[in-house]
Amino acid sequence: LSPTLLGDAIENPGNVLALRETAALFGWDCAFGSKEVPFDLGPFSPVVALENEDGAASIHGFRVPLERLVLVVGNERRGIGRDVLARADHVVKIPLASRRVNTLNVAAAAAAALASLVRGGGGKLHDRADPARNRPDLLLLGGDDPVELGSAIRSAAAFGWERLLVDDRHGIWFDPDRVTRSEGRGAARRGKNPIRVVRVPAGSRLPYDEACLVSALPGGEPLHRASLARGPRQLVVLADERASPFEAFEGSVAGRVRHVSLDLPGVPRFRLSATIALAEIARQVGQRLRPGGGRAKPAGYALELEELTP
Ligand SMILES: C[S@@+](CC[C@H](N)C(=O)[O-])C[C@H]1O[C@@H](n2cnc3c(N)ncnc32)[C@H](O)[C@@H]1O
Repeated sequence: LSPTLLGDAIENPGNVLALRETAALFGWDCAFGSKEVPFDLGPFSPVVALENEDGAASIHGFRVPLERLVLVVGNERRGIGRDVLARADHVVKIPLASRRVNTLNVAAAAAAALASLVRGGGGKLHDRADPARNRPDLLLLGGDDPVELGSAIRSAAAFGWERLLVDDRHGIWFDPDRVTRSEGRGAARRGKNPIRVVRVPAGSRLPYDEACLVSALPGGEPLHRASLARGPRQLVVLADERASPFEAFEGSVAGRVRHVSLDLPGVPRFRLSATIALAEIARQVGQRLRPGGGRAKPAGYALELEELTP
């Protein structure tokens, strides 16, 4: 048996493809089941359900033997079916910071979970008095697929970013046709996703002390060893590298540039690489120590950025 990613009653063919791609990226098998045609969980142990539920364990620091593992992810609207959930030995969640956007795209969630499981669980979610002080600014270098960019924007909001910068060099977010627009906005869950998306023209000079370019490919500092929670003077750049490889990034920052790597065997669709990176950055940014607390401080540079010209 190989470790297996199991999609329970997945409806959207795009998510089926993205889940297959996620499993392949890590050398796992991928299978699908439904109420009508249940998947036989018998040979697998442990059965781990990935679901954002009260009482679920955090994926950060969650360690299990992988040899006969099955990781179950659920339907886009209903989540994992009760019968399958009842069979689970563990329920784990990817901790999210947003109250408004409280789930990730199913394949994006699977990618972040697999990346953590294959690393033996990684570090624990940090407890912080004021996580907003550690949260870096984010720049997405968009590609030509609105669903991928929209899903990455959904993930950023779910992990607690209140705004992000987008270099939309393929014109799929700010100047799209009607269909492209509705695909992107739908994937971003724009109806309930309040994140501010700030346009950054290609070639802008950005006022940050440091930029970390996070590539899917090997070659840079490994993601989990890179320090990515240095606050709003640090910029993390994530690119849809299939259509906008980092060589196409002509932007410049005031400070130094670091190369960080997810060390994947290829460049996956953007929602997967972006969510793997964002889950780790959000882990380092941490969660508020005391529940309640005040609102996050607005990040710096908002005005300067809005006035940028190419
Ligand atoms: C869009 S979610 C399902 C919606 C969910 N039942 C709801 O409305 O609250 C689809 C699947 O993605 C996975 N998922 C998404 N976000 C997750 C998170 N933060 N932690 C764990 N699993 C998550 C789960 O497997 C879930 O069943």
